[in-house]
Amino acid sequence: MNVCRISVEETWPVRNEILRPGLPLATCQFEEDSLPGATHFGSFAENELTGIVSVYQINPAHEAKADGWQFRAMATREHVRGEGHGKALIAAMEDFLLERDADLCWCNARESASDFYHKLGYTRHGEIYDIAGVGPHWLMQKRL
Ligand SMILES: CC(C)(COP(=O)(O)OP(=O)(O)OC[C@H]1O[C@@H](n2cnc3c(N)ncnc32)[C@H](O)[C@@H]1OP(=O)(O)O)[C@@H](O)C(=O)NCCC(=O)NCCS
Repeated sequence: MNVCRISVEETWPVRNEILRPGLPLATCQFEEDSLPGATHFGSFAENELTGIVSVYQINPAHEAKADGWQFRAMATREHVRGEGHGKALIAAMEDFLLERDADLCWCNARESASDFYHKLGYTRHGEIYDIAGVGPHWLMQKRL
């Protein structure tokens, strides 16, 4: 398995399959994708795109002065879960951010994925909250 940068267009089918199943492809195109610095990573096994994550230079509301980056649309295909693809995607993204002297990395984590992020050094900030149609989330962050 290897991780490399991919285009936003390559992320759309995986976002659709895992994060927006059954919804139109247009729901997988985020406004943030057009921000300067928006960057996308893909994990590959034998030329199959197995997982994705996208990262944007956006601060969380509680850290307006940080050099913070938000990641979104973290997903790995079901048949590779537990094989380290998610961890490798986060590691590649953090390396990219460290090269840019970013000091904070964060996400709106689904509760079901929050222990995955916790294992990778992310901590919960604030209270659990609901995102309509998706479910309970935690803001999770890591100082780089
Ligand atoms: C969450 C997700 C990205 C994890 O990807 P993955 O490829 O299975 O992760 P890895 O194999 O790299 O796992 C790394 C470690 O986290 C653990 N882990 C993975 N998912 C976990 C979860 N949901 N809860 C707790 N631990 C988890 C693994 O067991 C592994 O532990 P280890 O290092 O002790 O062996 C994947 O399950 C997924 O795409 N879920 C559906 C979409 C989703 O919820 N995305 C997150 C949106 S916020």
